[in-house]
Amino acid sequence: MELQGKRIVLGVTGGIAAYKAAELVRLLGKQGADVQVAMTAGATHFVTTTTFQALSGKPVFADQWDERMPNAMAHIDLSRQADLILIAPASADFLARIANGLADDLLATMVLARTCPLLVAPAMNLQMWENPATRRNVARLAEDGVKIIGPASGEQACGEVGAGRMLEPEEIVEEVLAFFAPKVLAGKKLVMTAGPTFEAIDPVRGITNLSSGRMGYAVARAARQAGAEVTLVSGPVAFDPPQGVERIPVRSALDMHAAVMARAADADIFIGVAAVADYRVANSAEHKLKKDNGGMPPIELVENPDILAEVAALPNAPFCVGFAAESRNLEEYAQNKRRKKKVPLIAGNLIQDGFGGDDNRLVLFDDAGVHPLTPAPKSILARQLIEHIAHLTGKL
Ligand code: PMT
Repeated sequence: MELQGKRIVLGVTGGIAAYKAAELVRLLGKQGADVQVAMTAGATHFVTTTTFQALSGKPVFADQWDERMPNAMAHIDLSRQADLILIAPASADFLARIANGLADDLLATMVLARTCPLLVAPAMNLQMWENPATRRNVARLAEDGVKIIGPASGEQACGEVGAGRMLEPEEIVEEVLAFFAPKVLAGKKLVMTAGPTFEAIDPVRGITNLSSGRMGYAVARAARQAGAEVTLVSGPVAFDPPQGVERIPVRSALDMHAAVMARAADADIFIGVAAVADYRVANSAEHKLKKDNGGMPPIELVENPDILAEVAALPNAPFCVGFAAESRNLEEYAQNKRRKKKVPLIAGNLIQDGFGGDDNRLVLFDDAGVHPLTPAPKSILARQLIEHIAHLTGKL
């Protein structure tokens, strides 16, 4: 319920992507937002007002001369009550109209009369998107402070392939969440690790661990929503990177080490969430080991570089944050790691709480002491961790 208490006017304009706005209403509502739908006449040719009324639980406005508002001023009343106006899909025609300050229907009038921010998710044929007129309109809207989200590239309803597809409803919700999140890390460059590493024994076998990447990906998402530019060096995990986050996929601890060290000197903040293998196989085989060739040879292990400790030892090191997963003595072991790796902040968790699931229990250890966080979904703990980092780095 990350949008609890937020009032959003969702403006739907005429385009085939209007059907996706129905799912958008559902997803925004699921996050706790109070959604008021307003449509252009064109949009009602694609989806009916009844669909949106059923999903939002509110009457839908599509007519400038609607008499349901006692003062007959829907354009003023609806836009004044909103924390955000979101137009999705935003057609080429609608962008042209609002870029020129036209107020020739209810939605355009609301946009012109608004006192709140405006987010638009364009959706149109790729030639329409690339047309100089649209480019001019989009540039003018951006100059006016309107936030343009998307469009994405891909197959279009007309069968052509290129830029112009509306972002998916889930992606739009992410943009809305990012929009409302306090920008406590604005302008900061953050490099981080997440997930497990995989240390090959032969081309098909290896040593790895049960890190799913969930905690790290939640931290990456929260940092991006807080305004940071996030580079996520990630071991093998099963899901896509959070929107707006640059992911560098790696497999072994050595790959992760190289990817981090190439970027850490430029970072303001480094967070090591990855469960990095402490050891790799020294005698990793080039070809698959065969049982009938004398059986499995003994596996020799050599120590991997400690990425977090190396980043913390850089001249002008970024602000470094480590994680510690322990099966017991959390405080003692986490504090030892903090001292040994010389980092100002460690987030400790017990293995049974941290690995795999959606929830976790984190305890933060820093110079000021021990800060246990209430057990919660990883997304919420990640946001609290980012706020704590912002506090320690003087941004809060
Ligand atoms: O991915 P999930 O399923 O959501 O699980 C999340 C998690 C439990 C993996 C995560 O919350 C967590 O605790 N990660 C750290 C795991 C751990 O115990 O790491 P460690 O004690 O081996 O290392 C301590 C710190 O040094 C970590 O920040 C680690 O990233 C870093 N490290 C360790 C070894 C190494 N060679 N290089 C490192 O940078």
